[in-house]
Amino acid sequence: MQNFEFYCPTDIVFGKGAEEKLADKIRQHGGSKVFLLYGGGSVEKNGILKKLEEQLNEADIEFEAMGGVQPNPVLSFAQEATAEAIDFDADMVLAVGGGSVIDTAKAVAVGLANPDVDISEYWERGRQIESCAPIGVVLTISAAGSETSDSAVLTIDGTGKKGGAHSDIIRPDFAIMNPEFTFTLPPYQIACGVVDIFMHTLERYISHIEDNVFTDLVAEALMKNVIKYGRIAVAHRKNYEAMSEIMWCGSVSHNNFTGLGRGKDFSAHKLGHVLSGVYDVAHGASLAVMWPAWATYVYEDKPERFAQWAEQVWGVNAGTPEERSRAGIRLTKEFFEQLGMPTTFSKLGIGVLSDADIEKMADICTKNDTIRAGVFHPMNKQDVMAIYQSVNK
Ligand code: NZQ
Ligand code: ZN
Repeated sequence: MQNFEFYCPTDIVFGKGAEEKLADKIRQHGGSKVFLLYGGGSVEKNGILKKLEEQLNEADIEFEAMGGVQPNPVLSFAQEATAEAIDFDADMVLAVGGGSVIDTAKAVAVGLANPDVDISEYWERGRQIESCAPIGVVLTISAAGSETSDSAVLTIDGTGKKGGAHSDIIRPDFAIMNPEFTFTLPPYQIACGVVDIFMHTLERYISHIEDNVFTDLVAEALMKNVIKYGRIAVAHRKNYEAMSEIMWCGSVSHNNFTGLGRGKDFSAHKLGHVLSGVYDVAHGASLAVMWPAWATYVYEDKPERFAQWAEQVWGVNAGTPEERSRAGIRLTKEFFEQLGMPTTFSKLGIGVLSDADIEKMADICTKNDTIRAGVFHPMNKQDVMAIYQSVNK
């Protein structure tokens, strides 16, 4: 087995009625003045925000709420929210939402702990995060896994650059996870989440390092579970069993448990982040387009690994390793399409791009061909352009 470190400190309350523990968890984790962040209004419409605010009032916990975090959240909004939180003298940030709200909350929490440093230092210039205020989460969408992850992804306004800051310090202190809170999600958004959850494990699994057997078994089981319950969740959003299986898989898939000893490749994420940064497309949808294209381009580097995955996850047990690899990639693409996800640029809603558009994205992805993107098959600018071109229809 390969060596690894595993640090996942998030205190999780999972299941029906989990939100009833919110006030207790805030106190337990040191909050007394809470800066509550939410998104574009779904939690106002479905009543979740009101329910939480009532509880905080009853518990005499002082709070200030701020809405308006947009999907593919931008740095400038996080800066505004940080100023508000500092002004309020908050000692905890509570995210009520999904990856976009949680990632913004992480940035605000770093800003709160470092009021003399602009958060662009961390998200634009790569300064190391050394301190962070406590972060709580009430999760309303199963997808990004930010409720337990070490990352926060923000788009730098006007540049098309979407990038993450990473540190164990920004893993949330607690997460309240009631699957019923996801019942109001549109099917497209559920499908985006299912793809993202599947990818967080698959992008750890496809690797040249493969001797952590238990990690493989956990990863394969998670991917099979996501295929099974993902289909049900998209068709029946109020199916508690499916929504709860997906929700828990979402956290485990990105807290690193399914990649111990291997690290992350995340090539499709890198290709997809550029698409989201430039064209503001949903994260999960960008991955549905990019992963099959990337896998088709690189599987011959190690067909045995793709074949093992195809066999264990998709039940493909006939043919050469190359044939099994191709079958697994085809089945994954079909799965994404059955969920209603796009697998080309046109279906993603951005049309057919010009050569100049493709080159611009490849430049962002590889910093003008000065770095290689991804680990399994480090991609230069030409590789990135070829992969984008293969789905440019
Ligand atoms: O903004 P509101 O009105 O709340 O609507 C949201 C948003 O439009 C809606 N929604 C959320 N919960 C809902 C709901 N609608 C109805 N009912 C509910 N219960 O869903 C839409 C998408 O929300 P968002 O937070 O953007 O989704 P997701 O959780 O997929 O997060 C995506 C972001 O996370 C980043 C992505 O890049 C993207 O910016 N990621 C963060 C990661 C991390 N921090 O570890 C890892 C991921 O790989 C990913 O990069
Ligand atoms: Zn993701």
